Amino acid sequence: MRRIILAGNWKMNQTPSQAQVLLEELKNSLPATKHTVAVFPPYLALTQAVAAGEPFLVGAQNCHFEDKGAFTGEISLPMLSEIGVKAVIVGHSERRQYFGETDETVNKKTLAVLRAGLIPVICIGETLPQRESGAYAEVLKGQLCAALSGVSAQQVPYVVIAYEPVWAIGTGVTASAQQAEEVCAMLREQLGLLYDADRALQVSILYGGSMNAGNAASLLEMENIDGGLIGGASLKPAEFAAIVQAANDVKEARV
Ligand code: PGA
Repeated sequence: MRRIILAGNWKMNQTPSQAQVLLEELKNSLPATKHTVAVFPPYLALTQAVAAGEPFLVGAQNCHFEDKGAFTGEISLPMLSEIGVKAVIVGHSERRQYFGETDETVNKKTLAVLRAGLIPVICIGETLPQRESGAYAEVLKGQLCAALSGVSAQQVPYVVIAYEPVWAIGTGVTASAQQAEEVCAMLREQLGLLYDADRALQVSILYGGSMNAGNAASLLEMENIDGGLIGGASLKPAEFAAIVQAANDVKEARV
């Protein structure tokens, strides 16, 4: 069965010494849980996050799709893997918007992350005009299919999808639980068409976009929402702890 994942995307926040403090505060604040708690700190704090140990599954916020070579400034999957990183966020909307990430590079990175034996957390999401025009379902299906091109049926259960409506990221505006569930259910149906219904049930689909202590329970209650990719609130230990607690309260533990 798919796992429930509460993932903190720290974005470009926390120097290494600040990260050390935050990791310790998180460890002290988080409730015990059967669910997966993941942190995605900046590259320079990854080693510390790995060293922090339980309960964290540690992921990077980006990677290059080549193993090595003349790509100044980039970080490869063998580098991440060697230090104990287990997951990578792929195609976050901020990377699509500010750093030229396209459906094609998202696909290349997804395939590379899977080849390296890590978990790709693939972000997809529509903009406000796409939501308002009603075109969002087609946009999202297109992003999903493009990201998964060449991913085999054996590989797909190792993929995590994060539905992150661009209009909800960092804005304080959250998709309603019904809006988020409608999309996550549609994505699972699409996975069923691309693969099969059994495999679709094994893929964790997260919601991201201003998830916080106040709205987490109502989102996590939804059948097709298997956790959250959490930005701002993941930097506040009490708030992140409350989100993990909300998952404990509303989601049955799946091992
Ligand atoms: P937010 O960010 O929770 O601050 O909206 C979520 C994300 O971008 O992953």
